[in-house]
Amino acid sequence: MKKILFVTSEAHPLIKTGGLADVAGSLPKALAELGQDIRILLPFYQAIKTNQEVYYRCTVRVNNSDVNILESRMQDSNVIIWLVDYPAYFSMPGNPYVDIHGQAWPNNAERFALFCRIAAEIATNRAYLDWQPDIVHCNDWQTGLTPALLSLETTRPATVFTIHNMAYQGIFPASTYPQLNLPGRLWNPNGLEFHNQLSFIKGGLAFSDHITTVSPTYAEEIQTAEFGYGLEDLLKYRQAHLTGIINGMDLEQWDPATDSTLASQYDADNLDKKQLNKAALQQAMNLPVAPKLPLFALISRLVDQKGIDMVLDCLPEMINMPCQFVLLGSGDKVFEERLQRFAQNNPTKIAIRIGYDESLAHLIEAGADIFLMPSRFEPCGLNQLYSQRYGTLPIVRKTGGLADTVVDAIPETINDHTASGIVFNAPHAGALLEAIKRCQLLFNDPKTWRQLQKNAMRKDFSWQNSAQQYLKLYEQL
Ligand code: ADP
Ligand code: GLC
Repeated sequence: MKKILFVTSEAHPLIKTGGLADVAGSLPKALAELGQDIRILLPFYQAIKTNQEVYYRCTVRVNNSDVNILESRMQDSNVIIWLVDYPAYFSMPGNPYVDIHGQAWPNNAERFALFCRIAAEIATNRAYLDWQPDIVHCNDWQTGLTPALLSLETTRPATVFTIHNMAYQGIFPASTYPQLNLPGRLWNPNGLEFHNQLSFIKGGLAFSDHITTVSPTYAEEIQTAEFGYGLEDLLKYRQAHLTGIINGMDLEQWDPATDSTLASQYDADNLDKKQLNKAALQQAMNLPVAPKLPLFALISRLVDQKGIDMVLDCLPEMINMPCQFVLLGSGDKVFEERLQRFAQNNPTKIAIRIGYDESLAHLIEAGADIFLMPSRFEPCGLNQLYSQRYGTLPIVRKTGGLADTVVDAIPETINDHTASGIVFNAPHAGALLEAIKRCQLLFNDPKTWRQLQKNAMRKDFSWQNSAQQYLKLYEQL
């Protein structure tokens, strides 16, 4: 049995902005089921939601500040969760990273540096918790200073750093460095310095014993200039210590046979009932109830990564096709406004919901026929997993985890029953539109469509395999 400290800036259901929360809410549970002693470390944001008891555990003094550590449990797994309680940094409303205008909180460097220090104190058993991990598993830039700080310790646990997205690196002006009171030894081009700026993610990439990312294809992609954002050479240099492990999904939360947020539960042998969800979704989005029209859907953060511009460029054509389109998301205001304008001008075909809505997301997965995920890059992606499990065939671009988890419907894969969606290659609206048309042809052939839905729904996206891979890695370290 390994003792693992899982350090993360979000975890479902306590706090979520994206897929990292889904992973942090389900991978530790899977590792606990494999008999590991795993504890999650998370900042105690004001916006945290939990129905579990939260109680005081200890006070740690770092950088002349007293920081409380609170303890709670994950609600459906009993995994212990430690919350870093420092109100001056974390007790602000809303999003963990940005204010209501989408601007990064001005003291993000201080906030997450403090978080990283506390992780390092716990890792070296100096936090009065009487527990020392064998492994510290860090995630994304917000945790990047922890492997760097631990590299200076003579006795320390092994460190793993998982990249969920290279596009977010935690870059701050060089003048921030002295304010954070970090050891001078870490400030050099082989350390935390990146073109004379402070890079949090480099702490994870340069100092962790092993780097993982969330799909095998993305592990290759980030070693190229297109996806590495200037860190590709460092990643290539660390190639022998870099592995891609595909994300699993929480099969209990995302199961159409038991999902209580649906209008009707269903499974692969009972697919007619999926239609009831389609009608419920059309009603919820004020679209005409039209059982025969293919219903396209998209749920996402509205950012460049997700190829929203390609979707916008396809909409003028889609309006002339026999179909409907629903979208749930929020983010870039320009995308939000352009999407809403399309919906206003085409109210029987397009429905846009700007915002974040967990139960609507479930109903969309169940009620739509086709899920659009034309990402320009996608480290793993979870929605294409959820949609396959819900028999909603994804149209994805061949990149990162999308390439690793969706099998394109071509004659060969249709015949051998492995096809589970539509995959296209070029990052252009033209290629997406072609994929949409190809998908419509398949949709109009109900027997083939039904088989594709069953193929998708029967795929194994559980954590079983991937959690075993993490465990093997921990053991090697
Ligand atoms: P990313 O982490 O890059 O945002 P993923 O596909 O890995 O992409 O995970 C996104 C997660 O966030 C999924 O669980 C998805 O359902 C959820 N999500 C994104 N936007 C919304 C929204 N507006 N409302 C509800 N859930 C959302
Ligand atoms: C990131 C990526 C997404 C991935 C998620 C969880 O947010 O953008 O592709 O699924 O992390 O690993």
